[in-house]
Amino acid sequence: MTVDQIQEPAIRVQGLEKSYKELRVLRGVDLDVARGGVFALLGSNGAGKTTVVKILSTLLRADAGTARVNGFDVAEQAADVRESISLTGQFAAVDEILTGRENLVLVARLRHLEHPGKIADDLLARFSLTEAGTRRVSTYSGGMRRRLDIAMSLIGDPPVIFLDEPTTGLDPQARIEVWQAVRELADRGTTVLLTTQYLDEAEHLADRIAILHQGRIIVNGTLAELKRLLPPAKVEYVEKQPTLEDVFLALVGDDGKNGHDRNVGTNA
Ligand SMILES: Nc1ncnc2c1ncn2[C@@H]1O[C@H](COP(=O)(O)OP(=O)(O)OP(=O)(O)O)[C@@H](O)[C@H]1O
Ligand SMILES: [Mg+2]
Repeated sequence: MTVDQIQEPAIRVQGLEKSYKELRVLRGVDLDVARGGVFALLGSNGAGKTTVVKILSTLLRADAGTARVNGFDVAEQAADVRESISLTGQFAAVDEILTGRENLVLVARLRHLEHPGKIADDLLARFSLTEAGTRRVSTYSGGMRRRLDIAMSLIGDPPVIFLDEPTTGLDPQARIEVWQAVRELADRGTTVLLTTQYLDEAEHLADRIAILHQGRIIVNGTLAELKRLLPPAKVEYVEKQPTLEDVFLALVGDDGKNGHDRNVGTNA
């Protein structure tokens, strides 16, 4: 690694522009993401989050501006960028017919790594998939698939990982499992850029949050900094009702293993 790469943020985006024909999606995006930690890119449907991720992962060319990942320019040094990253897309890219373990071994082989079996077993253990590892992925729940997908993207230990809406479509328990996996990754020093439309996801998980709106980053900061943008909270006495999520998790158990059968308001 060169001195430049160590000193540079994990991701540096300057003046990024992208249009699809007449549609100007990115209109000058500026963004720095420091090394390590979870950075959440928020935005409504169609704001351009996936477009940013595709440009950063060299799948799409920008019309103007520059983007550097791990110290490499996405346009000029695409191969180096690809070696520095992994990308987990909005839809899981696992092979249904293979078992979880076979999926992992396959990717490790494709990356020409030594001891693919050991790599697979370590990742299965890290993502609590050891028991499921010998089953076909077609029998997995959505949360298990997503965890396997993230596990696959970690093979080769890339310093930067992109997670495009990692929990869309998952139930609350599966989301928490994915959050734990992502948090652990960041705690090991990986830089995670995740996109999400779920504000609570960013609130739970992200060290820093940026909002993409009408083609630009309109705010960028820690959760505390973002909250300071609004007037100070008023003190009011309210009866605190549990949220639906609280109720759901209390009844089902938040690791999904110790749920209880309960009927609310019926004699069934
Ligand atoms: N290949 C394409 N051709 C034409 N328009 C596109 C193309 N890809 C994306 N768009 C449009 O660009 C805009 C931004 O899309 P993008 O997928 O980046 O948004 P997003 O923030 O990821 O949205 P979502 O939350 O729905 O995933 C949308 O209006 C989309 O319809
Ligand atoms: Mg998207």
